[in-house]
Amino acid sequence: MAIYEINGGTPLSGSVTISGAKNAAVAILPAALLIPGRCRIENVPDISDVRILLDIMEGMGAKVEKPEPGVVILDCSIITQPMPDPALVKKLRASYYLMGALLGRYGRSHVSLPGGCSFASRPIDQHIKGFKALGAKVTEGEDFVSMEPGENGLHGDRVSLDVVSVGATVNIMLAAALLPGKTVIENAAKEPHIVDLANFLNTMGANISGAGTDTVKIWGVESLQGSTYAIIPDQIEAGTYIAAVAAAGGDVLVKNVIPKHMDCITSKLAEMGAEITDYDDAIRIRSTGKLHATTVKTRPYPGFPTDMQAQICVCMALANGTSRLTESVYETRFFGYCTELESMGAHITIDGKTATVVGMEGLHGVTVRARDLRAGAALVIAGLAASGTTRVENIHYVERGYERLIEKLTALGAKIRRVEE
Ligand code: EPU
Repeated sequence: MAIYEINGGTPLSGSVTISGAKNAAVAILPAALLIPGRCRIENVPDISDVRILLDIMEGMGAKVEKPEPGVVILDCSIITQPMPDPALVKKLRASYYLMGALLGRYGRSHVSLPGGCSFASRPIDQHIKGFKALGAKVTEGEDFVSMEPGENGLHGDRVSLDVVSVGATVNIMLAAALLPGKTVIENAAKEPHIVDLANFLNTMGANISGAGTDTVKIWGVESLQGSTYAIIPDQIEAGTYIAAVAAAGGDVLVKNVIPKHMDCITSKLAEMGAEITDYDDAIRIRSTGKLHATTVKTRPYPGFPTDMQAQICVCMALANGTSRLTESVYETRFFGYCTELESMGAHITIDGKTATVVGMEGLHGVTVRARDLRAGAALVIAGLAASGTTRVENIHYVERGYERLIEKLTALGAKIRRVEE
């Protein structure tokens, strides 16, 4: 078991380059399954979620080459095993995208239920609703979802999502790209990775418009071709480094970002007292040494992301005054890290969907345990800001989504190391 050991209290300085977006990569790589051909995907983050996904696809018969760092060439010409390995599928939330991709390519699929960070119940009823609307006959077993064409065959149709769901929007886009007719997803998610997936599919020859708005339209095409595509930078990775500077202090240039994607995060940190400067593809964050309390409510994009809830909570724990943090996407997400932050000296009271955070002078290092990816990232930030030594356990969660975290933080002057125990 490895842990992170952090000697906190050192401000961060220099520059950090953001990797490709995890949640775009885990949607775009399965999209390559739609064609019997090759796709070259660039800016792919080297994180465990991506490695597991590629292992699953390789097990299905896909040829995976990594000719240089960040580049993956996928050749899905011959799929020998269309049922993905259940043991691997359970390790990854995004393995549910194999359902949409296989339905799109073969008109049928049999995929185990996904695993991944379990900070909430995370149902997939909206994915199923979408597949059914496209004409699939869906069988839901205790442990799997199986699909085949229904009586009227597979076809485009209108799907109105009951809740804004990133996963359901992606899965319906994957399933519909090759179906006859027009599919309209209403109340679609608008996250940057939805737009990225649509752009990738369109480079393959798909006909998708409206991605990034709440109505996505997909005109099914007869075939798609392989393409070369570079994944967008990771909004949440960038936000995590920005929050780290706000909490631990310092002056950092965060490179390879799309500043527009960051507005929902940087506007809050600016309101809290950090100095933010946008450049074309970079953001500079300079701590002014003081953070003010604020109010945040997480929402689907373009709102403040739930995946930044834990990181901003650390900033609130160090701010002057009392902040309120309301979670409206995953109610139970606070339980992944608030108790750990309290053991470091934070003062947090949770009442249903809202946490009230009374800012303290500082945090102190202790041993804490990550319970999911973003909770783990928040504990790392807390450790960087705290006095003394923080030991973060369960770091496999963090390694799901942050490429070369130790290397990047060390280059910024942080005293953090990965210790095998
Ligand atoms: N929901 C349903 N039914 C569904 C699907 C979702 O009720 O069929 C509900 C969920 O319970 C939740 C809300 O809808 O309350 C939004 O869930 P969504 O489907 O958007 O989440 P997801 O696709 O499972 C993705 C990211 C998460 C991120 C959420 C919200 C990927 C692989 N995962 O999950 O990322 O928190 O969107 O933005 O894209 C992370 O990166 O740490 C992470 C957890």
